[in-house]
Amino acid sequence: MLAMNFRGPFRVRADRHAPYPEIEHPEDCIVRVLRSCICGSDLHLYHGLVPDTRVGTIFGHEFIGEVVETGSQVQKLKVGDRISVPFNISCGRCVFCKQELYGLCHEVNAQATATGGIFGYSHTCGGYHGGQAEYVRVPYADVGPTVIPDWMDLDDAVMLTDVVPTAYQAAEMGGIQEGDTVVVFGAGPIGIMTAKCAWLFGAGRVIIIDQLDYRLEFAQQYAQCDAYNFNHLNDPVVFIKQLTDSLGADVCIDAVGCEAAGDAMNTLLGRKLLLQGGSTTALHWAINSVKKGGIVSIVGVYGPTNALVPIGNVVNKGITIRASQASVKRVVPRLMQYVKDGIINPKELITHRLPLEEVAEGYHLFSAKRDNIIKPVLIPPSA
Ligand SMILES: NC(=O)c1ccc[n+]([C@@H]2O[C@H](COP(=O)([O-])OP(=O)(O)OC[C@H]3O[C@@H](n4cnc5c(N)ncnc54)[C@H](O)[C@@H]3O)[C@@H](O)[C@H]2O)c1
Ligand SMILES: [Zn+2]
Ligand SMILES: [Zn+2]
Repeated sequence: MLAMNFRGPFRVRADRHAPYPEIEHPEDCIVRVLRSCICGSDLHLYHGLVPDTRVGTIFGHEFIGEVVETGSQVQKLKVGDRISVPFNISCGRCVFCKQELYGLCHEVNAQATATGGIFGYSHTCGGYHGGQAEYVRVPYADVGPTVIPDWMDLDDAVMLTDVVPTAYQAAEMGGIQEGDTVVVFGAGPIGIMTAKCAWLFGAGRVIIIDQLDYRLEFAQQYAQCDAYNFNHLNDPVVFIKQLTDSLGADVCIDAVGCEAAGDAMNTLLGRKLLLQGGSTTALHWAINSVKKGGIVSIVGVYGPTNALVPIGNVVNKGITIRASQASVKRVVPRLMQYVKDGIINPKELITHRLPLEEVAEGYHLFSAKRDNIIKPVLIPPSA
């Protein structure tokens, strides 16, 4: 079959001879992929920043498709069902899944004490192949996937596998109170959608910060928020204080993660020399510009190794930090309703549609932020 294939940092290609996935466990199903996205998280893999990303891995944790085969113990799904598959793999019965912490499942990853299992996201996250392919194996088929309702557009459905749940959970973890000022760092798909979701929790003002004007303009329109380019600010932290009576924002959200720009030292340590688990610039800004007693919500991804964060400021300012990989399955029913009611229009973030054959071009465009790209979707020839 045709599938994306990782050859090493900054090198991916379309492989026409990838082996078809097989049922390996009676609770698996095989899915014919209809859409898969490239995510900002894939860029961390592409840039060689995620430990144990093996050559030959098929990336892709955001995909939807049609069930073509089911294992003997699959009961809920049947061949022909079109399903939306959460990016995290979860067993549904461990102590974490029982608390709906599906992103922290203890059964799906040999490194289970460190992280859960994710499709196409290195052996650190379980070593599963992903969905940037014509076909993919989905373990625990009865647990994570949701059948896509007939009324739902497939482009919306694929955005419910990661972007919308992650953004919604980012806003939720912010503990936003009525009228709060919320600052979102990062105007990628996750940050833009987070800004949109912040209003659903009662925010009174939403501000988004990035350095890419085209994304800031898009965010302003899409999420009706204020948008600022940090390159035009002397100091983003001072700027946010000035906007908030010197108090700081009620809630700050890090939707950037380990590849943050804006501070030479952090970039050098975290992205060039790899001496820490990523560049923590956005996290610094979030911690330093939130008010005393405020909440910092982190969905930006960081590596497992140590990283410098201003922990003294966290303690002295009495800040609450909340962070997680999104528990997609927990929030999908609610988000489907929001899509149905027209409250969220996820597919509007999709700017590029490429045939799977052009996956290398997709990674290049998205990594270089060319052509005003926000969210690229790959369409396999068999879709
Ligand atoms: N926790 C989860 O479940 C989860 C799920 C999906 C994605 N993520 C993570 O969320 C992050 C964003 O994903 P995305 O798809 O939107 O990625 P993206 O690469 O498209 O967007 C990141 C944006 O951050 C901007 N940026 C860089 N440095 C900044 C800074 N210092 N301040 C403000 N903005 C800055 C970039 O210009 C870019 O627009 C990534 O780290 C990704 O891995 C986490
Ligand atoms: Zn993703
Ligand atoms: Zn589990």
